[in-house]
Amino acid sequence: MYSTRPYERPTAFDRMLTPVHRWIWSDADRRVQKLFRFGETETDGGRDILRAAEVTSDPLLRRLYLEHAIDEFRHGVLFRHRAAALLKASASGSNPGFHGSWLAPGGHGLDDLQVDGEADSDMLAFLHLSEKAAASRFTVYRDVMQHDPPTRAVFEEILHDETFHMNYTLMQLARVEPERHKRHLWRARLSRLWKAYLRLATSLAGIFGSILLTIQYFVLLPPFGWLAKRAARREHSGWTMPSPARSDSLNRQY
Ligand SMILES: [Fe+2]
Ligand SMILES: [Fe+2]
Repeated sequence: MYSTRPYERPTAFDRMLTPVHRWIWSDADRRVQKLFRFGETETDGGRDILRAAEVTSDPLLRRLYLEHAIDEFRHGVLFRHRAAALLKASASGSNPGFHGSWLAPGGHGLDDLQVDGEADSDMLAFLHLSEKAAASRFTVYRDVMQHDPPTRAVFEEILHDETFHMNYTLMQLARVEPERHKRHLWRARLSRLWKAYLRLATSLAGIFGSILLTIQYFVLLPPFGWLAKRAARREHSGWTMPSPARSDSLNRQY
């Protein structure tokens, strides 16, 4: 599915992170892991949009959602095929520990999508922002991929579709809610911001938790270790005779 409109420019935030993205994508093994994960995200997103096609009562939206879902499934296949080709070419089997998932996430954020019970307008506003985010990130990923032309071509091809998705969702939102489409967009923006904050807070809580546990390990445990060693030194080694008072219990049942 192709758009005649120009590509979305990446956001200032995504452009600012270009050197980080370049570093993340420079490692071949990390690229394989990320492409496989992107493939999963796209396929999951396609499944949710297929569900949206089932529940909407608007015939035009149903047709567009179906085409959209087919695109997302195709993106999943493209990412997985490229990842498999890279894996075959490298065959090193190494697995770098850091994948930079929160710095270079899969495009959409469609994992936050709640299909059932959503009004068409809310769904379209959410989809528009998700596709816009995808178009912005995929533009940066494509641009930092000069060293890997086939992967760059995959991003280029998918970017075409994401731009179309971004545009049709906005046009349809303006159609179903001509008066209040901007309000729906702002509400969806705030919802995405809140979810991003929750994700960041959860990651930070995990980092702080690890730091605190490490500090506790090195600060609180050594005194207990020292006390245990001192108590062990005071113990007599081998068998010792108990005092008569303490051995009294041997003469009684309790
Ligand atoms: Fe996609
Ligand atoms: Fe998309």
